[in-house]
This record gives sequence, C-alpha cells and structure tokens, in this order.
Amino acid sequence: MEYPKLAPFPTNFLWGSASAAYQIEGAYQAEGKGLSVWDQFVRIPGKTFKETNGDVAVDHFHRYREDVALMAKAGLKAYRFSISWPRVLPTGRGTVNEAGIKFYSQLIDELLANHIEPIVTIYHWDLPQALQDEYGGWESRQIVDDFTAYAQLLFERFGDRVSHWVTLNEQNVFITHGYLTAEHPPAVMDAKRTYQANHMANLANASAIKLFHEKGYQGGIGPSFAYSPTYALDANPVNQVAADNAEQLSADLWLDVYAWGRYPALVMTYLKNQGIAPEVTEADQALLSDPLAHPDFMGMNYYQTNTVTANSLEDGVGLTKQNTSGKKGTSQASGVPGAYKTAENPYMQQTDWDWNIDPEGLRIALRRIESRYHLPVLITENGLGAYDTLETDGEIHDTYRIAFLKAHVQAIQEAITDGVRVIGYTTWSFTDLLSWTNGYQKRYGFVYVDRDETDEKELNRYPKDSFYWYQKVIQSNGEII
Ligand code: BG6
Repeated sequence: MEYPKLAPFPTNFLWGSASAAYQIEGAYQAEGKGLSVWDQFVRIPGKTFKETNGDVAVDHFHRYREDVALMAKAGLKAYRFSISWPRVLPTGRGTVNEAGIKFYSQLIDELLANHIEPIVTIYHWDLPQALQDEYGGWESRQIVDDFTAYAQLLFERFGDRVSHWVTLNEQNVFITHGYLTAEHPPAVMDAKRTYQANHMANLANASAIKLFHEKGYQGGIGPSFAYSPTYALDANPVNQVAADNAEQLSADLWLDVYAWGRYPALVMTYLKNQGIAPEVTEADQALLSDPLAHPDFMGMNYYQTNTVTANSLEDGVGLTKQNTSGKKGTSQASGVPGAYKTAENPYMQQTDWDWNIDPEGLRIALRRIESRYHLPVLITENGLGAYDTLETDGEIHDTYRIAFLKAHVQAIQEAITDGVRVIGYTTWSFTDLLSWTNGYQKRYGFVYVDRDETDEKELNRYPKDSFYWYQKVIQSNGEII
C-alpha cells in the first residue's frame, strides 16, 4: 500500500536502545556473581573471534551511571537491558545474591530518575553454568521450574518499577546455535536434542508468562523473537514452496507456539518423519494452550530477510556457520536438504558480515505479526554491525549507520500507517559492545567505546554522529528523520 501521508508515531512511542548483560557488564566474577555458560564457552579455543570474552566487556557494571547519563543526553524514552541470571542467583536457584539485585535495582532507579523506562529481558543467553552442569540446562524439565522461580524473583524485586518484560531473547537463535550448529554453548550438534531443548524453552516461557498474569503484576510481558522473513528467489512454484518451508521451519515453529500454544501441523509432521519431534505431554499442551501463558506483545528483533530456493533432499546444502570474520562475501549458502536453501537476492546490499540490508523486510515482518497473531509489536532490536573509525578529534562519522536506521524508521512508520500496533523501537545497541562470536570490531552502538580485541584501553565513551541523529528523531517523535 502507498499512502499520500504517513501516520505519525504514537505520542507514547518507546524510542530506545538495547543491550545484553554478557555483552556489556564485564565484572564477571564481581560481588558474588556465579559463572554463566558463556563465561566458560569463550575459553574454548576457536569459539569466538580472536578468543574475545566478556570478562571486562565495556565495563558497564562499573560505569552504568555514565552510560545512563549518555542515554539521558540522547533523550531515550526506554532502555532494554538484560539481567544476568547467575549475577542474582549464582547457582541458578536457591540463595539470592543481594549484591546482584542491588546493582540492577540501582540501574533501574537511575533510569527512572532520568525519565527512561526500563525494559527488562529476563534471559539473554547467560545460563548459570551450575544448571548446565547439574542437569544439562535447557534439555531438562527442571529448567521450567527454575526459570519460573528466577522470573518470579525479578517480578517481586523490580515489578513495582518495570512495566515491560521480555522473557527469552531469541529462543530460535540460542537453541539452534546451541544444539544444531554448535556456534553457542553447549555446542551440541544433534537435531533430536535441539527440538527437545526447544520444547523445554517453550514451556519455561509459557510458565513464566502465566505466573506473571496470574499474580497480576503490572505491565506486559512477551518473548523476543529473531524474525527474518523469507522471500522466494522468483515466481517458480518450487521456490515458493521452499520459501513457505523456510517460513514455517524458522518462524511459525516459534511464533505459533508463543501466540497460540500449538506447534504448526506441517512442521510437526516433518519433525516426526525425521524422528526428531519433541515429546509433548498432555500437561505440556495444557500449559501452552492456556491463554494466561500467551504474551501481551510480541518482541521482535529484526536485522535482515532471507531469500531461498528449493534444495535437493539427496545432496542439498545443510546449515552453515555465520561469517564471523567481517570479510565481506565469505558466507556460504545455508539450508535444510529437501526444504530450502539460501540464495543471493539481486535487489539487496550486504553488510561486511554478509547480512542483507532490507528495511522493507521490517515492514513485512511487522505486518505479518499483526495480521497473523493480532498482537502489538515491540521492536526489541534492529541495527547495523559495522566497522567504525574514531577520528583524532574524537568524532565518529557513521553516516552508513544513520542511513540504515533512517530507512528502518521509515519502514516502521509505513507499518504503523498500515495499521500495525508498534509499541516501541529499541535499537541494537546503545554503546558498542561485545558481539558474541564477532569480537569488538563489529560495532552497533550510538556511543563508541574505545577498546578492541587485544587492548581494553581506557574504555572511554564517544557519541557518534548517529547519536545526535537519533536525539533529533526522538525530540521530534519521528517527524524529523
Ligand atoms: C541478536 C542478539 O541476535 O543480534 C544480540 O540478540 C546480538 O545479542 C545481535 O549481539 C547482533 O548479532 P551479532 O552476532 O552481530 O552480535
């Protein structure tokens, strides 16, 4: 649809930015914090770019006041951050580390004092190592109760000051990277275990949401899904079927469960045929179907779209790992034999890490979630990972990032005009941070942090040109982009 005039952004639109504990905090052993699976995984040679880790990250744990002051200067209305599970529960359950609670409590107060709404992600991948060791983490049913108890602790301690909660960040990514491609901990490659662990994550998500609703905490709650809509390369019907396969296997498989509490029938048939379907008990189904266990909004992380063609069952392309070198053009096609494989889309440019740049895809993603699930959407991540240069005068001229974000803000406004209820937009990221497997050279922030893979330097902060651009966007509530 084209319109003579676009609708304005809602007056209470949450213009913000985002981060995750492991990627910014550092202080990985400070004040009683337990270890997470990432604290251990990064020490396995070859797992991360140049063996980088988050031991210090960008030292947000010690510099959060400075970071919040910069957020206030940018005029952020919201800040999405995650809580490190082992910082508040060092062994995953039981004894609470009050020093960890105090850190997040002070951060929340600091944000509120600066009129910035905290959006709290309960789980952004840093599972307590103790739970991995004790019962295999996401593969055990025990995680459902432990995750729910952890979520309840946060609702009890922070629920008076937080009104938007994100349960699991990118379940589709941490499960597939953790159990199919072994790019993330626990670095397993086993399809059967993948869908079983995924089912436990579905139950944990539903259980925490149900508890939130039953207890009547204020505000809303939902998961954040990494959504990359799929296009068929062309009008060839076999490629259209491939695109449908990809959409069902990589999106509906999660989104249908979140919103409706049921696995897509075609995907279940496919998984059963392969002998890799999860075991869903009657009690599991009752929990997933319970309306109280369904989200109030869909959190969506949007970076790119995928374009696909048919993929042979006998000798088709399988899943490949992501480009973590930052050398453009080094990615391989990836796919599921007999279902789909990725192809180059002639209409798209790519980032240096080969991610497709596609603002129109964001509009499509938003429209699809509104039409299919009738849920408002909180865009919990979107941004450009790029190389930045700190000039001698302390400036960073990231015009490419401004162009990227501008086009995406425009796409959001088009989707709002289409009738999608978009609650807010928390870009990835506020400061530069550790990119899990890509080191520090892949930068996303509005604020440059002066450190690299080998030298922590002084960790000084420098607002980039995009910082001042976003400040104007927020001031004008999206009228000036
Ligand atoms: C999302 C994650 O997958 O994308 C973030 O939620 C992550 O934690 C972001 O950093 C960008 O990915 P990458 O691999 O470029 O850091």
